[in-house]
Amino acid sequence: MGLGHSRKRLYESKIIQEDIAQLAGHLKDQLAHFEGKTFLLTGAGGFLGNYMVLLFRYLNQHVLKQKLSAILLDNFITGYEQHIFSDENLHFQKHNVIEPFKTDKKIDYLIHAAGIASPVYYTKFPIETMDVGTVGTRNMLELAREKKVKSFLFTSSSEVYGDPDNNHVPTNEEYRGNVSVKGPRACYDESKRFGETMCEAYWNVFDVPVKMVRPFNVYGPGIRPDDYRVLPNFIEHALRKEPLPIHGDGRNTRSFCYINDAIEMIFRVLFSDANGESFNVGNSEREISVEGLAKELVAAMPYPVEIVHIDPPHAVYAQSDPKRRCPDISKIRKATGFKPKYDLKEGLARTVAWFREF
Ligand SMILES: NC(=O)c1ccc[n+]([C@@H]2O[C@H](COP(=O)([O-])OP(=O)(O)OC[C@H]3O[C@@H](n4cnc5c(N)ncnc54)[C@H](O)[C@@H]3O)[C@@H](O)[C@H]2O)c1
Repeated sequence: MGLGHSRKRLYESKIIQEDIAQLAGHLKDQLAHFEGKTFLLTGAGGFLGNYMVLLFRYLNQHVLKQKLSAILLDNFITGYEQHIFSDENLHFQKHNVIEPFKTDKKIDYLIHAAGIASPVYYTKFPIETMDVGTVGTRNMLELAREKKVKSFLFTSSSEVYGDPDNNHVPTNEEYRGNVSVKGPRACYDESKRFGETMCEAYWNVFDVPVKMVRPFNVYGPGIRPDDYRVLPNFIEHALRKEPLPIHGDGRNTRSFCYINDAIEMIFRVLFSDANGESFNVGNSEREISVEGLAKELVAAMPYPVEIVHIDPPHAVYAQSDPKRRCPDISKIRKATGFKPKYDLKEGLARTVAWFREF
C-alpha cells in the first residue's frame, strides 16, 4: 500500500465528507424514503458500500427527523474492515453472504452490493466470485422474501454485455451481450447474468420487488489503489512520479462514472417502482480511450508525468478485454429523473485530491 491508504479511515477524509454532503443534497427529494427505515447492505466494506454507509451516517447526523438503521454485512475478502463505520444505528456484522443470514429485525430495503469486482481478485478467487453472485444473491433474495421488503436491489455489472459489437455502443439494456462462458472473465460475467435472472424469477414467482443495476466503471475517492482497475492504477503511478503504464495500444474505450452519480442512481432506482427492471448506471457523456484517460490525468497533474506502453501482464485476460464500453442511460434518466452532475475533469480532480490526502 504505497500511499498508506489503509492507515486512515475513510470518514476522516475531507473530500469524502464534502462528497457525502453533496450527495445528500442531490437526494433531497428522496429523503422520505430514508426516514426511520431499516436497510440491509451487503458489501458494506467495499468502494460503493463505504459511500452508502457514510451517506446513512450523514443523514442520521444532519438531516433525518427519525434516524434510519442499517445492518452492514461484509466478509472482507477484498474490503477493509477498518473503514467500516459502525454506531448504535449502523450495525456492522462480519458475514459471508454465501451463508444464510438471520435477523429478528425488520428490513425495509435490501441492497446486495457484495461482489468481487476487480479482475485481479476475481481471477484469484473465481469460485468465491461465482458464489457471491449466485448463492449469495439467492440467500439475500430469500431474506428479502421473508422480510417482505419494500425494495431489493442487486448490483449487477456492465460486464453482462461482455464485448459489445460497435452497433451496440452506446449500449442499452435491451442488448443481450457478447459474453463467453469460459475464460478469465466468465466467473464474474456469468455470475452477474445468473444473479439478474434469479432476481427476475423472485419477482415473477414470489413478488419480491427487485431491481438490478449495471454499473459502468465507477471511480472516485475511496477506490482501492491496489485493485488494478485502470484509473487508481494510473493515479498511483502519477503520484509516485512514475510513467503511467498502458497495457497494449490503449485504444480500448471506457466511460467513467463518478461515485456520487453512481450512488445517487442506485438509491433512485431502489426507491422507484421499476420492479423486475435492469438499469445501466454510468456516464454516457464521454467515451474515452485508455490512452486518452492517461493524457487527461497527465494534464491534471502539477508536474510532468510520462506515459509508457507495456505488454499486458495477463495476456489471456487482456485478449478478452472489451474493446468499447459506453452506456446508454436514457432508461434510468426517464424512470428516475436522474441527471449526471460530475464530468470526468471534476471527478478526476476530486479523486486525485483524495489520493493526495491519503
Ligand atoms: N465499481 C464498479 O465500477 C463496478 C462496476 C460494475 C459492477 N460493480 C458491482 O458493484 C458492487 C460493489 O462494487 P465495488 O466497486 O464497491 O466493489 P468492492 O470490491 O470494493 O466491494 C465489494 C465488497 O463485497 C465484499 N464481499 C465479496 N464477497 C463477499 C461475500 N461472499 N460475503 C460478504 N461480502 C463479500 C468484499 O469484501 C468487498 O468489501 C459489486 O457487486 C460489483 O461487482 C461495481
